[in-house]
Amino acid sequence: MEPLSVAVIAGGRSSEREVSLNSGASVVEGLRQSGHSATLIEIAVDGTWSGDGEPVTLSPGVGIEGFDVAFPVVHGPFGEDGTLQGLLESVRIPYVGSGVAASAMGLDKILAKQRLAQEGIPQVDFVGFTDTEWTEHSDQIVESAQRLGSPVWVKPARLGSSVGISRVDDPASDQIREAITAALVHDPRVIIEASCSGREIEISALEKVGPEGRTELVLSPPGEITLPGATEGEWYDYDRKYKSGGMELVVPAEISAQQAEAVCMVAGRAFRALGCEGYSRVDCFVNGDDVLINEVNTSPGFTSTSVFSRLFAAAGVEYPELLNDLLRSALERDIRSARFTF
Ligand SMILES: Nc1ncnc2c1ncn2[C@@H]1O[C@H](COP(=O)(O)OP(=O)(O)O)[C@@H](O)[C@H]1O
Ligand SMILES: [Mg+2]
Repeated sequence: MEPLSVAVIAGGRSSEREVSLNSGASVVEGLRQSGHSATLIEIAVDGTWSGDGEPVTLSPGVGIEGFDVAFPVVHGPFGEDGTLQGLLESVRIPYVGSGVAASAMGLDKILAKQRLAQEGIPQVDFVGFTDTEWTEHSDQIVESAQRLGSPVWVKPARLGSSVGISRVDDPASDQIREAITAALVHDPRVIIEASCSGREIEISALEKVGPEGRTELVLSPPGEITLPGATEGEWYDYDRKYKSGGMELVVPAEISAQQAEAVCMVAGRAFRALGCEGYSRVDCFVNGDDVLINEVNTSPGFTSTSVFSRLFAAAGVEYPELLNDLLRSALERDIRSARFTF
């Protein structure tokens, strides 16, 4: 493809900032390897933007200092949640990945689960509430959490990398209130989920632009997340995700052809139900014949050795090719959106 000048936007204000900076550095390198010119634009914790140490300005209608396209790899709040996408959209900069609504829904575990439920996509039962509802109706909320069985999972609704999540083994004990208080440190919206004892299977989804701008959703082989040396009750927490040797990805996952097909089906339905664009990593629980969706990550960790990339690499699709496909779909969306009268 034609060489482009790409603004890779990384960092941001959330606790996933370091993870994002790693994704950003890797994307810059991959883009340069495929002949593009790429600059890392870092969003600092105070919200300022800089590229190569210089302040960056956004010019409505012109873009970011003449870059052709933006490649946001900011994870978590203020990046993956539609806010950054809205900013890029409003100043008309073509960008990689899902738009405003899909990003907002994808990051909000309550909104995403409500939308997936509308489509009848299988998932665990859940209860979602706000800090105000917690203050006013804490007894009812604890009661509904207890109806989910045990253990339950208490999470900030809009975060990632397992930050702020607690597994509560006995929802009838004080543990539940402690876990909710811990989640409320991160987000005024909290979700409590029933537990799924299935295996953790992840699959990458990528849109490819074909003839006449038609897009086709391509899925990687599913992979399984395993935790070497894990003791009973251990789960895929922050350290397991990012400490070297904390997790192992088995790809392709050692599941039956029927289970793999069901994972692909669920992933495709979830991607479309949320209105995702470009790419997403879809995480599922597989328990015998049941495939339950856990979550759709619209801005997954995206270094060349992240799960998203490794799943595609297993099918012979290399990192630079993924980057090129994403740039193509960003440009294609920009062309498409120019056809509408707003
Ligand atoms: N309902 C659940 N049942 C079983 N395990 C869960 C459940 N929810 C979360 N977990 C465990 O916690 C991890 C992180 O939860 P997840 O909802 O994926 O949060 P994040 O968005 O931070 O990745 C999962 O990968 C899984 O190991
Ligand atoms: Mg997850």
